Order: sequence, then C-alpha cells, then structure tokens
Amino acid sequence: MATQENPTEKTLDQLGAAQPEQVTALFAEVRRKFDQNSAAAQDEPAFKEFRDSWLARKSGILTQITDNWLKPAKVDLKRVVGQELNALKAHVQEIITQRESELSSAAGDSVSAAERIDLSLPGVTRPIGSHHLIRQVFQEIEDIFVSIGFSVAEGPEIETPYYNFEALNIPEHHPVRDDMDTFYLDLPKGAATPLLLRTHTSPVQIRSMEKRQPPVRVIAPGKVYRRDNPDATHSFMFHQIEGLAVDTDITFCDFTGTIEYFIRQFFGAGVKTRFRPSYFPFTEPSVEFDMSCIFCGGSGANANGTTCSKCKGAGWIELFGAGMVDPAVYGFVNYDPKKVSGFAFGIGIDRLAMMKYEIDDIQVLFQNDVRFLKQFP
Ligand code: FA5
Repeated sequence: MATQENPTEKTLDQLGAAQPEQVTALFAEVRRKFDQNSAAAQDEPAFKEFRDSWLARKSGILTQITDNWLKPAKVDLKRVVGQELNALKAHVQEIITQRESELSSAAGDSVSAAERIDLSLPGVTRPIGSHHLIRQVFQEIEDIFVSIGFSVAEGPEIETPYYNFEALNIPEHHPVRDDMDTFYLDLPKGAATPLLLRTHTSPVQIRSMEKRQPPVRVIAPGKVYRRDNPDATHSFMFHQIEGLAVDTDITFCDFTGTIEYFIRQFFGAGVKTRFRPSYFPFTEPSVEFDMSCIFCGGSGANANGTTCSKCKGAGWIELFGAGMVDPAVYGFVNYDPKKVSGFAFGIGIDRLAMMKYEIDDIQVLFQNDVRFLKQFP
C-alpha cells in the first residue's frame, strides 16, 4: 500500500464513505492491494517486510483499519465495517500462513540439495603414508639379524647413569663420558638417582644380560640423545642398533664373520670393509668398522679429480664401533668371565641410511619434508 494515498490512514468520514456499499468497496480495494503485495514478495526478506506491514501491532494496516475505520465509525456503519474487517483479517491470516509454509519448505529443499551426495562424483583420494626411511632401515637390519638367530630387545630412553655408564665399565670420572655430552633430567631434590636421556643403545646389553643366562643373541634398535651440535652428519637425537652375542665359545672370527655378513646383505656384495683398532671401555679389543666410500667408489676422488667430500679423500667411511665384550662387564651382570665370551656392536642407523641411499645431510631425515619422504615409499 502506498503510504501517501493510503486510505487506511484516514477515517471513513474523511474518505466520504457514508454508505455500507462504499465501505464494502473500500475493503475490496484494500484486499486487492493485499493480494498484489503478497504476489510481489517473492524472497524471504521481502516476505517478512510484507507480513510486518500488514500485521505489525502498532503500525500494521489491519491496526490502522481498526483505529481509523472501525473505532470512529458511525453507529449505522459499525456493523458492516466490523464484518468486512473480520473477513479481511481472516483472508490476510490465511494467505500469510500459507506463504510462510511455502517459503520454509523451499528453504528446506535448498539445504537438502546442498547436502545431497552426488554418487557420480569421483571419490576423495587420501594419500597413503609409508614408514619413515629410518623405520624401513631398522626393519631391514632386524630382518637380517633375525634370520641368523638374533632376537629383538628394547630398553628405556630415559636411563640411570648406572646402565648408561657404570655397568658398561665407565666409572664416574672416566674421560669417555666427555665424548657423550649428556642430557640430564631436572629432578626434584632428593631423587633416588639422577636420570638422563641415554647416549647410546649399549645399556640394553646390560639389561638383556641381567634378564637371562648365555647364550644371548640380541639386537636393540632405538633413539639416543647427545648434546651434539647439528650438522650434515650430527644430530642431537639419532638412532642406533645395538648388537650383542654372548656364549661359551664366541671368537673374534664369529664377530667379523657376522658383521661382514650383515654388511654384504645390507649394501650388496660390491662393498669392501675393514676393521680399525679403537677404544671403548666396554669392549676389548675394540674396533671401528669402515666401509669403502660408495660416493667415490673407494678411490677418495670424484670423477673430475677433486677430493671426495664424503670420505674426505680417505676412500673409507666409518660406520660404527664394536668389539669383544670386556670381561669387566660380565662382573656387573653376574656372568663368569672365565666361561663366557662375546661381541657387541653399536651402529648409527642414520649414517647407515645416508650411505645406502646417498643422502648427504642427516638433517633431512628429521625435517619431515614430504618431497623427501615420498622418495622412499
Ligand atoms: C657408541 O655409541 C658405542 N655405544 C658403540 C659400541 C657399541 C661400541 C657396542 C662397542 C660395542 P659411538 O659414540 O662411536 O659409539 O657411536 C656409534 C655410532 O653412532 C657412530 O659410529 C655414528 O654412526 C653414530 N653417531 C654418533 N654420534 C652421532 C650424532 N650426533 N648424530 C648421528 N649419528 C651419530
């Protein structure tokens, strides 16, 4: 209804309606406007505006008709105005209720259209992950050693100094502790023993021997921690696999044979290996185990004649430490050093993986860059 010429804002007197027929004609006009307005209000906001303009209690058109036409109507018109008004109200209510339910079911239809599943669309492809390269290398090594009679043992990453050092024949002021700058845990005052993040997997040797009598043949994979500054070959957290074989008749030949068998299984028949004398407090004799450099083929030089940066021209790369178990260690686990002998080794897994897969920076193993990881499905 246009507000300017809106007849409902005037009284019947002002409109010059003194006869019942004129009143009926006025109501017919109002109803026609209502039907027009209803047809024009197509979306929800327009419908709400239309509904309020007719039904609002203070300023709605029905209220105006009540106030301006019905209340001041002369006695002889009151009856017809009342009847017409009631008929108009019924019509308005009916149409508005009907329109409301049409609009809400249309909204419901559009929600279900949005939620509907289109079975013809291609499915969502979720990329399938794979084991991290370090986990894969652990598995390869475990398979090789398990196939020759070793079993897999585990030990805690948080250790006591006793297992990490003392029982491995490294007493408190032994200088070798300096090589393994250690992370100690902050413990409450009065704690029974200091605790540290293990610096190597060798404590599992002690824990394994404490649990059983010879023969013992175990490997122990796991994480180890040292306060080493990160560079291309060092990380403060890295991985080792410990090996231990103890029995009544184990010789140095068993030791070298086992290690060489493992290296050939792992790297293939082409690599050359060598032992170098070394020192560990818990093995005697001790060795470092080297393999010929896979980057320069053991020559120490690149194809263009420059020095190989991986082996620094030596033609050999150090892989791990090992040796025959020092008899002093047997004293800590109640084995009789006169009756038993054995060998142990501790392999740095990250560097082994770097050799095999020609990775020139250890850090990429820990950066979790999917472009790198995807190369090892
Ligand atoms: C040991 O940890 C001895 N427990 C090994 C051992 C076991 C000897 C049993 C005798 C008998 P070493 O500190 O050399 O040894 O470490 C062993 C290997 O761990 C190294 O050869 C190297 O491959 C790796 N490694 C050492 N420090 C790091 C580091 N910061 N980041 C990555 N790899 C490392």
